[in-house]
Amino acid sequence: MAPTTPTPAFGLTRPRNTPLDPPPLFSELRERSPLTRVFLRDGLSPWLVTRWEDARAVLGSPVFSVDPSHPEAPNLRAGQEQRPRGFFLTHDAPVHTMMRRTLTREFMVKRVDALRPAITRLTDELLTVMSGLSGPVDLVEHFSLPLPSLVICELLGVPYEDHAFFQEQSKTLVDRTATADETSLAFANLADFLLGLVQAKRLTPGDDVLTRLTVQADEEIITDQDVADLGALLLIAGHETTANMIALSTVTLLQHPQQIPRLFGGPDQVAVAVEELLRYLTIVHFGLRRTALEDVTVGDVTIRAGEGVIISINVANRDPKSFTDPDDLDLARANARRHIAFGYGVHQCLGQPLARAELQIVLPELFRRLPGLKLAVPEKGIAFKQTTAVYGVDELPVTW
Ligand code: HEM
Repeated sequence: MAPTTPTPAFGLTRPRNTPLDPPPLFSELRERSPLTRVFLRDGLSPWLVTRWEDARAVLGSPVFSVDPSHPEAPNLRAGQEQRPRGFFLTHDAPVHTMMRRTLTREFMVKRVDALRPAITRLTDELLTVMSGLSGPVDLVEHFSLPLPSLVICELLGVPYEDHAFFQEQSKTLVDRTATADETSLAFANLADFLLGLVQAKRLTPGDDVLTRLTVQADEEIITDQDVADLGALLLIAGHETTANMIALSTVTLLQHPQQIPRLFGGPDQVAVAVEELLRYLTIVHFGLRRTALEDVTVGDVTIRAGEGVIISINVANRDPKSFTDPDDLDLARANARRHIAFGYGVHQCLGQPLARAELQIVLPELFRRLPGLKLAVPEKGIAFKQTTAVYGVDELPVTW
C-alpha cells in the first residue's frame, strides 16, 4: 500500500547521482511506493506515478485532465492559466481534439518522410561548416540547436533569420523558474510575431504549415489567432526538445563507444538505437501533469476527484518490470519502442515522427563525418540544465 502521508519536503529538482540517470530517490520510490503523495513548494501534494504500467494507465485514461486551471493541478511553472486554445497541449477534448486535428496531416509519417531529403541536406551543410572549424567547437551552437530550428522553420514557413528572437522566447517558456509575467510576455511576443507571418502568408503563400493553416482560417475552421498560437506551440515544442536529444545522445554515445557501430547498421538498427536513446534519456524529466476528474483506482491506490498527478516518465522508462536491465544503454534493445518518452494517450507527442526522422538522420551522420568526435572538456565540466522542463545542455564543447 502507498503511504497516505506525503513524502516530506519533496522537491522535483533533486540532484542526480550521475547526469544521465534520474535522481536515485525516484527510482527508490518506484520500487518502494510506486504511487505516493509528494509535497511541493507551493503547498500542493499531488500523487507521483513512477511505474511504467501505472504511467500508461493514467496517461491513457480520459478520467485525467491536462487543464492547468484545476485548483490542485500540479503545474510546472507560473502563468499557465494564460492558454489560448491553439496551445492545445493544455486543453482537454473537445478543444484539444479540434485543434490537434488541424495539424495531424502535417505530422503523418508519410508527410515527414518527404522531409528527409531536406533534413539530410541541412545536416550535411551544418556538418560541412562545423568540420571546417578548428579548436573546441560548441556542438549546441553549431549543430544540435540550429538543425531542428532550421527544420521547423522550413516546415512552418518561418524565416530562420528570426531564430535568435524565437529561441529566446521559447527558452523563457520552458524555464520553470520564469515568473508568470515573463512567461506571459514571452508567449505574447511569439504569438505577435506569428500573427505578422499569417498576414504575410496571405500575400505570399508558401508550401508550408503556416500557409495551410492560414487557408483553414480563411475557411473559418480556425481563427488567425489560432494559427499564430498553433505556430508558437510548434516552434517551442519543435526545436528545444530535439536539440537537447541530439546533444545528450552525443554525450551518451561517447560514453558507450562500443555501441556506436549500431548507428551504421542500416535503417532498422538506427531506428531501434534512436528508440533506446529516447527511452534512456527521457528528456521531459519533470513529469507530465494531470488532475483526476473522478475518483479512480490506479495500482492499489484510489486517487480522488480533483487530486493532481505527476507522471514521472523518465523513472517509468527505467522500470525493471518493463525493461530488462533498464539502467543499461542497449542500442539493440528489442522492446525499446515501448518507451513513453513521447508521452502516451491522446496527448502523445504530435511531432514524434519528425523528431525520430531528425535523430535517425543526424546521429549516424555526425559520427560518420567526425569519427574522432570527443568531448573537449571532462564530463564533470558539462553544465546540465536542471531547471528547464526539458533536460539538456546549453553548450557542449567537442573536438575531433
Ligand atoms: C525528441 C524530441 C521530443 C520529445 C522527447 C517530445 C516529448 C513530448 C511529450 C512527452 C509530450 C506529451 C506531453 C503530455 O502528455 O503532457 C509531447 C507533446 C507534444 N509535442 Fe513533443 N517531443 C519532442 C519533439 C517534438 C517536435 C519536433 C514537435 C513538433 C514539431 C513536438 C510537438 C508536440 C506537440 C504539439 C505536443 C502536444 C500534443 C497534444 O497535446 O496533443 N514535439 N512531446
